[in-house]
Amino acid sequence: MVEILDNELKGLTGNKTHDEARQGEAFAPAADLPNIFKKRFYIESYGCAMNFADSEVIASILQNEGFGATRNTEEADLIFINTCSIREKAEQTIRKRLSELKKVKKTNPGLLVGVLGCMAERLKSKLIEEEKLVDIVVGPDAYRTIPQLIEEAETGQKAVNVLLSREETYADISPIRLNSNGVTSFVSIMRGCNNMCSFCVVPFTRGRERSRPADSIIAECIELYEQGYKEITLLGQNVDSYHFIPVNGNDSEAVSFARLMERVALISPDLRVRFSTSHPKDITDEVLYTMAKYENICNYIHLPVQSGNTRVLQMMNRTYTREWYKAKVDRIREILPDCGISSDIIAGFCTETEKEHQDTLSIIEYSQFDLSYMYFYSERPGTLAARRYPDDIPLEVKKRRLAEIIELQNEISYQSNIKDLGKVFKVLIEGNSKKNENEWMGRNSASKVLVFPKGDYNLQKGDYVNVRVTDCSKGTLIGKVESLN
Ligand code: SAH
Ligand code: SF4
Ligand code: F3S
Repeated sequence: MVEILDNELKGLTGNKTHDEARQGEAFAPAADLPNIFKKRFYIESYGCAMNFADSEVIASILQNEGFGATRNTEEADLIFINTCSIREKAEQTIRKRLSELKKVKKTNPGLLVGVLGCMAERLKSKLIEEEKLVDIVVGPDAYRTIPQLIEEAETGQKAVNVLLSREETYADISPIRLNSNGVTSFVSIMRGCNNMCSFCVVPFTRGRERSRPADSIIAECIELYEQGYKEITLLGQNVDSYHFIPVNGNDSEAVSFARLMERVALISPDLRVRFSTSHPKDITDEVLYTMAKYENICNYIHLPVQSGNTRVLQMMNRTYTREWYKAKVDRIREILPDCGISSDIIAGFCTETEKEHQDTLSIIEYSQFDLSYMYFYSERPGTLAARRYPDDIPLEVKKRRLAEIIELQNEISYQSNIKDLGKVFKVLIEGNSKKNENEWMGRNSASKVLVFPKGDYNLQKGDYVNVRVTDCSKGTLIGKVESLN
């Protein structure tokens, strides 16, 4: 989902990694805040969408305690960095940022610096030993205790809480939408992960999987819709395993992911629903048929394959084979013919041979992903792979294999865009295009970005409009308004 690609390879890809798009975004309310707060906090987020959603929960906790947000590190009394550990590079980026913050601390000796999120959970109090400027360390399940930890740190002690929980879902906390476009929003539906993919640090940093009560999810979605939001992305590391049984309820009252998605879709036909991420093993026909049934459930599935070779997939503990994954792609195309499919791919996993790497290339070709997030394997201490297998593929080989994967995927993404030329799509306008304020930017159901001239239509962000594709680049469809919705 996330980390920035190695700099040398960045130039090769038209596909943006999540981090390029979102890494290190500072969160602060759009409007200026009055000067009534006891202290001001600044929060910066790295990593996956779940971290960004968590920062909105953290902002809410802080605001309820009388703290105010600022966009400016110089103005802040508290600086929080919400961190990611998924690859070594992600942690290096954060360490670099922390060393930059030393300058801010010099000019403001009373400043407190807090490290939150996955790197906090992975390194625990070691982080305080290693990074002298850090005062507070908080893991993903301990955000409610941040106000107390601040008090503790104010007395000059270092404050740490990295306890993981089996229950915490922050269900009752209404996130503060910071830096929002007012049109699209994330809603967290579960936390943690039980899958134990051997390369992955997430089960260690985020703990056991738990589903947020369905009613609190629906209430948050309704509130967003009433505030004018038009698209909700249901978030979790593995959303298809969402399973909620009400307190004192029995199994017959269990809410599956398909049921939950249906309930969100029924809020209004004008509210789009997306979800991320799906583990291929858990995406059921029930989910696919529910997607087919509702026009406002977007035809887009992020279905990380990781590798195209069965032996490697087994070592990764992904629980499916090459053939099984291909059959899943076939099934999606059968039930949802226009569905966009994207993927995550890891190059150079432990012991991967050239032939096995070729299998990854051929499964990309077979699956015709519209987009992929592509990485080379980065060993994470403590994971199953780090304990069991040698990280034996030389860095140059990993990089070369990754470059081959990126080159192929870029070509397939471009071909996929070319196939859309002349088609008309219903687009939800998210805002101005980055390059030209006389153009709108929005997405179609399959999550492709469309850019088109505003013209004299008097459209606004949050409107739906039908756009005909007239041209394309590798990453974007270019079009013109065909008709109003
Ligand atoms: N829960 C999501 C993925 C979360 S991590 C899922 O299972 O789909 C996002 C992606 O980072 C993964 O899909 C994987 O491709 C990549 N990734 C995770 N650990 C990695 C590692 N140690 N080295 C390289 N890439 C990794
Ligand atoms: Fe990591 Fe696998 Fe869980 Fe995704 S499903 S978060 S890759 S362990
Ligand atoms: Fe990174 Fe943690 Fe997300 S390791 S990818 S921020 S769950």
